[in-house]
Amino acid sequence: MSIIKACIFDLDGVIVDTAVYHYEAWRRLANQLGFDFTEEQNEELKGISRIESLKIILNWGNLQKDEDEIIALATLKNTWYVEMITKMTPSEILPGAQEFLELVREKGYKTALGSASKNSETILKQIGLFDHFDVLVDGNKVTKSKPDPSVFLVGAEELGIDPSACVVFEDAVAGVQAALAGGMKVVGIGNEKILKGADLVVAGLHEMTIDKLERL
Ligand code: BG6
Ligand code: MG
Repeated sequence: MSIIKACIFDLDGVIVDTAVYHYEAWRRLANQLGFDFTEEQNEELKGISRIESLKIILNWGNLQKDEDEIIALATLKNTWYVEMITKMTPSEILPGAQEFLELVREKGYKTALGSASKNSETILKQIGLFDHFDVLVDGNKVTKSKPDPSVFLVGAEELGIDPSACVVFEDAVAGVQAALAGGMKVVGIGNEKILKGADLVVAGLHEMTIDKLERL
């Protein structure tokens, strides 16, 4: 076995594609506030916490809100988002994600979730992968948003594995930066022109193999 002992997975965009639901709910909120934003702009919100995302969106609409209003708006968006994710099924697991998770565990690697979402437990239960991780670290446990490495460092610590022996799987630029800042290896999920600095970029977990993991 290589020096890698643990795999830490981001959730949204790596295990499951919830970006469409985030986009729909944020857009509904923006429309209610009198403006709109594009799918391209939505890309900037990947990996960013709920409150930080809302602040970026309000900026696009040239709107200023106080902290109480920000919390109320974020809560409203989350109500709509939860309505959508509670209808999710295992058919929405991204190609190869379940297979790769099961393969690495079978080979003796530890697994952790490292997500900014406060809804990770709901999503994992909906798609039937709640029991596929040794450790779950999400936005309920860690408040500092990626690119801060906290979410991954807490995961490594809870697994009892040195960060240098962990590999992070991430689809967001902020997430790749967080993993690098934490001294971990990182596999980007998506486009290598966007996920700069990643040790390897693949289109999805269906392209990952144990061989590729051991060569990192
Ligand atoms: C990240 C998503 O995983 O979680 C972001 O990429 C999202 O788009 C963030 O804003 C927080 O999610 P939630 O479910 O707590 O609002
Ligand atoms: Mg993501």
